[in-house]
Amino acid sequence: MTPTKQHHLHVLLLLLICSSSIVVAAKHNTAVLCHPDQASSLLQLKQSFIDVDAKLASWRAGSDCCHWEGVTCDRDSGRVISLDLGGFNLMSRHLHPAIFNLTSLRNLSLAHNDFGTATLPTHGFEQLPNIIHLNFSSTSFFGQFPVGIARLKNLATLDFSDNFDLYLQEPNFQTFMANLSYLRELRLDAVDISTSGSNWSIVLADSVPQLQILSLFLCGMSGPIHHSFSRLRSLTIINLRNNERLTGKVPEFFVEFSSLRILDISGCSFRGQFPTKIILMKSLRVIDLSESPKLSVCLPDFPVGNNLEVLNLAGTTLSCDIRSSLTNLKSLKNLGLSTSEVSMELSLIVHNLSSLNELQLYGGEMENTILSWIGNLTQLTYLMLYMAMISLNQCPLGLAI
Ligand SMILES: *[C@@H]1O[C@H](CO)[C@@H](O)[C@H](O)[C@H]1NC(C)=O
Ligand SMILES: *[C@@H]1O[C@H](CO)[C@@H](O)[C@H](O)[C@H]1NC(C)=O
Ligand SMILES: *[C@@H]1O[C@H](CO)[C@@H](O)[C@H](O)[C@H]1NC(C)=O
Ligand SMILES: *[C@@H]1O[C@H](CO)[C@@H](O)[C@H](O)[C@H]1NC(C)=O
Ligand SMILES: *[C@@H]1O[C@H](CO)[C@@H](O)[C@H](O)[C@H]1NC(C)=O
Ligand SMILES: *[C@@H]1O[C@H](CO)[C@@H](O)[C@H](O)[C@H]1NC(C)=O
Ligand SMILES: *[C@@H]1O[C@H](CO)[C@@H](O)[C@H](O)[C@H]1NC(C)=O
Repeated sequence: MTPTKQHHLHVLLLLLICSSSIVVAAKHNTAVLCHPDQASSLLQLKQSFIDVDAKLASWRAGSDCCHWEGVTCDRDSGRVISLDLGGFNLMSRHLHPAIFNLTSLRNLSLAHNDFGTATLPTHGFEQLPNIIHLNFSSTSFFGQFPVGIARLKNLATLDFSDNFDLYLQEPNFQTFMANLSYLRELRLDAVDISTSGSNWSIVLADSVPQLQILSLFLCGMSGPIHHSFSRLRSLTIINLRNNERLTGKVPEFFVEFSSLRILDISGCSFRGQFPTKIILMKSLRVIDLSESPKLSVCLPDFPVGNNLEVLNLAGTTLSCDIRSSLTNLKSLKNLGLSTSEVSMELSLIVHNLSSLNELQLYGGEMENTILSWIGNLTQLTYLMLYMAMISLNQCPLGLAI
């Protein structure tokens, strides 16, 4: 670098530093400081937590709460509009009611903090009518959902996933969902909604027409998927995994969901022929039908240029020859199959799937021939074998993946 260029650079840097400090100063001058009652509510909340990692160290009386970790204020009013304590590793025995004095909240996340099977407060949530994003995933709350959450009509995302002790009974799923008409993302994984019986799909179609993401893994739903569910055309993710009492046919109308990227209906009790048209949907990246022994799947010949990344058919019944179908799956990263379908020829195809790095094989006895070629799939980083019988001394040495 020549001296003049260096000089220019210094001047430039200096200018940048000056201009950014001017901006900061301007921000400080115009923004209203934290509203005192917001600060006192936050401090009460802080006292209810055991803060192992000192994540709330910045929460000190007398300082501007708008600069506290996890807190965002509205510039004009100085009221808290976002409280994001997700993953702060806090512990508490109850949700302190002071949180409900933060009545301007639009975002609230307490995800991944431990409330040690406390119950959710019966009253309070209804005082937060502006909430748009509510995230209580993995919070270890216990018991019934309070009806106050059902009153938060502006909710766009609701995430209560991975709370194994929460359930919806009174109010039931139908009452709970009735007014959440702007919801775009619903995640209730592991929450028990079994009392909705087979009505859950009707309830969703009636209440949340704009839904894009639906994740109801292990929620105890039952019955077939009702035809009215076909109205939920904006869906991009459907995860109904491990709802063992979900039965009937997989609805063909899924092909009308033109933005569908992920379809996971594994571990349910769907039966009959899986609609082949669905497998060919251009939008799909992930199809997981595994552990559905009563489901017959016939793979089409995938067209060149398709984008499928995960195809898991382990534990389904393949009803036609799939050897020629897989060749064009150039983006495939993860393949699951039942071993009864696996043959020597397949080994050659699998070898040609250059993106493949996960293979799951599922079934009864595994033949030596299969084990002999697995060792040659050098691109694999992950291999899972579910088998009734495998004798370890038959494993080829190359299998240490
Ligand atoms: C919260 O609001 C209630 C009544 O609305 C009030 O009695 C209480 O003092 C407030 N708590 C805080 C921390 O401001
Ligand atoms: C909820 O918070 C968790 C942890 O921060 C995060 O992984 C998850 O994506 C959030 N959910 C939504 C719907 O944003
Ligand atoms: C509120 O949450 C949404 C979605 O997680 C995020 O995009 C947005 O930036 C958040 N707003 C604030 C003020 O934190
Ligand atoms: C839904 O809204 C209706 C009409 O405003 C109201 O009567 C009903 O109580 C609300 N349901 C819930 C669960 O808040
Ligand atoms: C299902 O919906 C029908 C009709 O709306 C209703 O009569 C029935 O009680 C509902 N069942 C459950 C379990 O909610
Ligand atoms: C595997 O790829 C090679 C060359 O890329 C090709 O000649 C061969 O036919 C392919 N095998 C299968 C089974 O598709
Ligand atoms: C595995 O690779 C070895 C060496 O490259 C080759 O001799 C053998 O035939 C291959 N086995 C199979 C089943 O492809």
